[in-house]
Amino acid sequence: MIATVRRARRLEGEVKLPGDKSISHRALILGSIASGQSRLRGLSPGADVLSTARCVQALGAGFDGVMLEGHGLHGLRRAAGPLDCGNSGTTMRMLAGLLSAQDFESELTGDESLSRRPMDRVVKPLVEMGAAASWPPLRVGGRTPLHGFTYAMPVPSAQVKSAILIAGLFADAPTSVGETIKTRDHTELMLKAMGALVEVDGLHVQVGPATQLEPLDIDVPGDLSAAAFWLVAGGLVPGSRIRIEGVGMNPTRTAFVVLLRTVGFKIHETNRRKVGGEVVADLDVTPAAGLRPIQVNGGAAAEMIDELPALAVAATQMPGRSVISGAAELRVKESNRIAAMEEGLAAMGADITAADDGWVINGPRYLEGARVSSHGDHRVAMALAIAGLMADGKTEIDGAECVDISYPEFFDHLEYLC
Ligand code: S3P
Repeated sequence: MIATVRRARRLEGEVKLPGDKSISHRALILGSIASGQSRLRGLSPGADVLSTARCVQALGAGFDGVMLEGHGLHGLRRAAGPLDCGNSGTTMRMLAGLLSAQDFESELTGDESLSRRPMDRVVKPLVEMGAAASWPPLRVGGRTPLHGFTYAMPVPSAQVKSAILIAGLFADAPTSVGETIKTRDHTELMLKAMGALVEVDGLHVQVGPATQLEPLDIDVPGDLSAAAFWLVAGGLVPGSRIRIEGVGMNPTRTAFVVLLRTVGFKIHETNRRKVGGEVVADLDVTPAAGLRPIQVNGGAAAEMIDELPALAVAATQMPGRSVISGAAELRVKESNRIAAMEEGLAAMGADITAADDGWVINGPRYLEGARVSSHGDHRVAMALAIAGLMADGKTEIDGAECVDISYPEFFDHLEYLC
């Protein structure tokens, strides 16, 4: 599908975001091993979370879209064939952790993009725990029990951390994970809510062996990584006023909002509350003022890794030289996001140079509509679409259907806000 986007005169209205993708995956995976029925409201309607839902169903957990039937920590059964994780790295890595602890073997497969993504980062620690695990293709499980261990993560990754913590539920002794920056902590929060023994001490998380997990009853907050596109567009399209209700504001996810505010964005937060252990708020976005260039490096890049394509778009409109570095991980996401965003934004007239681990972007530049490619990557498609809202003429995004991965209503919302 080719999506066509034209310059917006202003963006106005209220949007309700899809449920947080990270929390949705975790609710399905952890709910599948709870003792009893979990009620999961507001799950992400995206294809990634659907992949997780299908996998847990294939493993024997009944799910009707809201109610999930867990049969306890040892209640999963071997799937009839390979588990298809689609485009979803989170599904593959987190299920690898869960399934490495089962007494049957599973094979996890995915689409072409997922088949290219590194899985050794999860296989290696699971093998250290005593699991049978190999890649490629990704095969895990069949050798138990796992052993509790301590792991220092070489690359910040919430997916890998989560995989180890889930495997740790089944280990014979406590399991600890150390990270260099605090990645999203939804797994820790959810496991605690389910009664698991989880201790967090700064950058160290420890999980104890579990005997049972209580079912969940949750309302999944709106996805801040989906909000990122409207925060940038609302700040940069003159005269805009966008209200986003019920956005997940977990402090491990908000580095992007904090950064936008420091470079001149007006993001007003109201109605801050806690929903099922997660912080939620409503956000109002109005045009930015007094813009300054963006500087992101090292740990900060990891803290806003999913928002960096949107940030690159913002940088094209900031005065001066913006430098986004420390983000080499972007090369191994759903696409090579460093190359994909450089290609798309350069075609639209941005002054952008890719580096090994980010971009240097000089602004502000007048953008012009162009024919650009999503490279099959949902966040690239959405980032280029919001660039199109600030560009003259028409921007055509090839392969725009991939927004379905995380935000099927994205183009409907875009049209409504215009
Ligand atoms: C996610 C963690 C991040 C992020 C991904 C979702 C998660 O990946 O990019 O979209 O839900 O844990 P890494 O942990 O591999 O950096």
